[in-house]
Amino acid sequence: MKIFIGHLHPLLVHLPIGIWIIYLLIEFLKTRNQYKQIDFIIKIVFYTGAISAVASIITGLINANQQGYPTNDVFNHQWMAIGTSVLFLIFFYIRNHFTLRTVLVNSFLILLFMLISITGHLGGILTHGEDYFSIQNDEKKVIKPLAIQHINEALIYKDLVQYIFDKNCLSCHGQNKQKGNLRLDTYDHIMSGGKSGKVIQLSNLEKSELIKRILLDQSDEKHMPPKDNMQLETFEIQMLKWWVSNGAETSSKVKDISADTLMIRSIKQFHDAFSQINDVASIKRPMLDEIEANTLKKIQSLGWSLIPLSKDDHYYRAVAFNVEDSIGNALKTLSEISKNIIELKLSFSNLNDKDAIQLSAFRSLEKLWLDHTLITSKGLENLKQINNLNYLNLFACSINERDLSNYSDRRDLKLVYPNMKDTAWKIADTTELTAIKKQLP
Ligand code: HEC
Repeated sequence: MKIFIGHLHPLLVHLPIGIWIIYLLIEFLKTRNQYKQIDFIIKIVFYTGAISAVASIITGLINANQQGYPTNDVFNHQWMAIGTSVLFLIFFYIRNHFTLRTVLVNSFLILLFMLISITGHLGGILTHGEDYFSIQNDEKKVIKPLAIQHINEALIYKDLVQYIFDKNCLSCHGQNKQKGNLRLDTYDHIMSGGKSGKVIQLSNLEKSELIKRILLDQSDEKHMPPKDNMQLETFEIQMLKWWVSNGAETSSKVKDISADTLMIRSIKQFHDAFSQINDVASIKRPMLDEIEANTLKKIQSLGWSLIPLSKDDHYYRAVAFNVEDSIGNALKTLSEISKNIIELKLSFSNLNDKDAIQLSAFRSLEKLWLDHTLITSKGLENLKQINNLNYLNLFACSINERDLSNYSDRRDLKLVYPNMKDTAWKIADTTELTAIKKQLP
């Protein structure tokens, strides 16, 4: 109920403003001789205005306690409102008990008109933000689409990072306004910092004021962008963090950066959100050293087939087809070279949830076949940290759609699972499924 009454405030406030402005007008007319007889209306108008002012102030005070507005702004608006109302009462009293010179009355009228306008404006700032009354502001709210043809060719700083600043920060940190003495519209400005010095310390997230600010809780006064402004998406925060921790440099393109899966995933999400062009960011894998001959032998002796996936970067597909030991143990041994395994085929093995614990070690996996195994949703929990995964086959497992809800935000992941039907995710197309079926013994 209290909240409801508080919410009446934005509605009620228009009454005293309107009514008292009419009152001021009548008072003005009264100073001109031929309108002397309108005295009787004045009182009615003034009292209606006064009652609505009191109602506005009460609902306003209730509102101020509940809605977490910036305390300074509330303070100004509140005391302007109360002060202005008191001045109205004093003026009304004087008008009714003393005779004043016309010039004096008119000056008073102008003063009161200005005060009531300022009070209203201060209230407007609270609900609509400081920029509400500025003409320039309108066009800036339009987000321009991402102007890159191929995401892999995009420059990390110029096309992505600066785009985020342009979109979320320039209204206060651009050419027209430099809140906190900070401009974020060019690289040099970003690097030269604001009133408290540099806002980016190369490769140091903890010391970079800009990163600290965007990570602060939204309720924190120092959080950027300030509450009530368009906030950054998680993937945009990830991208800014990555950029700063990698030296905030300006020359790398998306295709140059090596497999930092979180960054690649963020770029993909960013691209999905702001570009219409259907083009996918690629993952460049780091070069690995050759696997020691002994290790290789040990693993192969367990029955693992290791198939090199390209000539000399030492990445493999491991197939468990001939593994005779328990699959859990075999996986444990294989995990010694988990970095090198990007495809893992466990189809038709008797892998269960307990064996699946070993899967969490395979962080580089991109493709994983678990079809025709005993895995359930519990075992799938072990895949949570495998960010690179872009193909997961769960055909003929006891897993239902609900168990897969964890993956609903993974638009880059192809899932094959029993109850295939159209979902929000990309699903392996049927040709792929036929291919898999053909491989069955
Ligand atoms: C609605 C206006 C507004 C927007 C939008 C905004 N800021 Fe700010 N920012 C401010 C104000 C006001 C200050 C100064 C007060 C303070 O220090 O909190 C400030 C201060 C800062 C400072 C501290 C500067 C210094 O040297 O003290 C940083 C860093 C900052 N903003 C980063 C950002 C980033 C990054 C964005 C966009 C993601 C952003 N701001 C968006 C209003 C804004």
